[in-house]
Amino acid sequence: MHLRTMPEQDVPGGLRLNTLAGWNQTVADWQRFLKNSPRGCFVMEHDGKVVGTATTIRYESRFAWIGMVLVDQEYRKQGIGTALLKKAIEHLDNSNIRTMKLDATPQGKPIYTKLGFVEEYEIERWLRKRPAGTSSTAQSLARAPLRETHREQIFRLDKKLFGADRSFLLRALCEEALEFATAVWEQELLNGYAFGRRGLFADHLGPWMARTRTAAEKILQQFLATSSRETLIVDCMKSNAVAAELLRACGFAPSRPLTRMFRGPNAYPGKPESFCAILGPEFG
Ligand SMILES: CC(C)(COP(=O)(O)OP(=O)(O)OC[C@H]1O[C@@H](n2cnc3c(N)ncnc32)[C@H](O)[C@@H]1OP(=O)(O)O)[C@@H](O)C(=O)NCCC(=O)NCCS
Repeated sequence: MHLRTMPEQDVPGGLRLNTLAGWNQTVADWQRFLKNSPRGCFVMEHDGKVVGTATTIRYESRFAWIGMVLVDQEYRKQGIGTALLKKAIEHLDNSNIRTMKLDATPQGKPIYTKLGFVEEYEIERWLRKRPAGTSSTAQSLARAPLRETHREQIFRLDKKLFGADRSFLLRALCEEALEFATAVWEQELLNGYAFGRRGLFADHLGPWMARTRTAAEKILQQFLATSSRETLIVDCMKSNAVAAELLRACGFAPSRPLTRMFRGPNAYPGKPESFCAILGPEFG
């Protein structure tokens, strides 16, 4: 067993693990981690094969996210997940990042708790399955792409609500899936915005922010109209009753719970209540 940093050549190995686990990340997502955190992503290698992964990504010096904690099924319960997590924590400690956050699956939660992570709030993954190619209202909801000035306004607001600047990620999402980037102004107020990703098996809406019900609904309807994939996913804030109601009315159903956890002082919590959905558990 060899625990080491993850270079670009390991992307197929990482993708193999997330595909086996039924996770939605693509080559572009792995490359995003490596580009933003070239020394902060780790793999466990055995016989030349990647059998475990963990990634980190920094948001200014405010906090960092740990994600992609994945171990090949055949290698579980041998301490590999814990070793990868300890390595990620050590890397962030050495980078003077005091606050670490992550979104834990029920399987991952015990190892995080043992290493000092505490619960912040609950998130729920909602999923919708439908026959492919059924985006019927796409024409009627066609809209102009976000202008640069609008993007800047969104990034400023997102920094307040998320707790740190993550415009480098939102910009990348905008470039890769401009069709999912949207904003809602009501009486000249920016009351909603959202981005999305075309994942491995599903289109993924998030972050999805809305300050009014009408803004939330408009964004969800636009997403449904724009995507023609069979499977759609949204990682919804469990406390957001409006988002849950809208999702249910549109044919989504809860598929699995996630727990947001942090280690160290939670000095930049943002305003999580403003979000209908997070970007994704690997990014926050
Ligand atoms: C969660 C996950 C990463 C854990 O990986 P892992 O390598 O099995 O983790 P560890 O071996 O360090 O710990 C798992 C358990 O095995 C136990 N264990 C560790 N070494 C052991 C050994 N030699 N013998 C017996 N048990 C052992 C640990 O105490 C731990 O027990 P617990 O679940 O009761 O706390 C893995 O199950 C996985 O990839 N799951 C799917 C993806 C996922 O949910 N990832 C988490 C994202 S938040």
